[in-house]
Amino acid sequence: MRQDDPGSFWNARFGAESTVYGEGPNVFFANQLEALSPGRILLPGDGEGRNAVHAAGQGWSVQSFDASSVGVEKALAHAAKRGVSIAAEVGDAASWEPQEAFDAIALCYLHLPPPLRADFHPRVARWLKPGGTLILEGFGPGQLAFTSGGPKALDMLFTTAMLEADFAGLEVQMCVTEEADLDEGPYHQGRAELTRLVARRPL
Ligand SMILES: C[S@@+](CC[C@H](N)C(=O)[O-])C[C@H]1O[C@@H](n2cnc3c(N)ncnc32)[C@H](O)[C@@H]1O
Repeated sequence: MRQDDPGSFWNARFGAESTVYGEGPNVFFANQLEALSPGRILLPGDGEGRNAVHAAGQGWSVQSFDASSVGVEKALAHAAKRGVSIAAEVGDAASWEPQEAFDAIALCYLHLPPPLRADFHPRVARWLKPGGTLILEGFGPGQLAFTSGGPKALDMLFTTAMLEADFAGLEVQMCVTEEADLDEGPYHQGRAELTRLVARRPL
């Protein structure tokens, strides 16, 4: 995985006509979203837009950004096909800044190099409104033993201790590493070790 230029790496991966991670939303994200009342949601690193399109269909006002212009084009096309509206733009986690705060933010498989992750995660926490919710799912360190997807570098994978430190200003409601079966397009298939977080910005 090239981390010096995530846009060109992911443009190449998203180049095919079909979707890489499927058209349906991530299951953990969709389940957590059901517990919340629709408002403004941000999806950084949303790729081909499966989660943005789902959230828009549930009545959320959706903002997303991704380093891949091909991903953003596919996300907008997916939204148009489903008859929903999303604000999707090209942007880099290193520099993207919002205009307003959000009721919810979801990070799905946005695995970043450690220095960027350590800078980005606390910034994301500050983009939540008081009472706003953060939802995160990604691969845990044990994923190196599986072939169901994710980066093959230990320092890009999520431990619960890492996330609790990154999001120290939030009230953690759930933070676990557990095994589950993935069925999300050709690149997320089979048994996986996942780290999952739900946290709330204090009122
Ligand atoms: C594994 S994909 C997940 C896509 C989407 N969240 C999903 O679950 O279907 C990782 C995504 O993160 C994006 N990404 C990687 N590094 C990024 C960065 N520095 N800034 C913004 N997006 C980035 C990639 O372009 C890609 O779309």
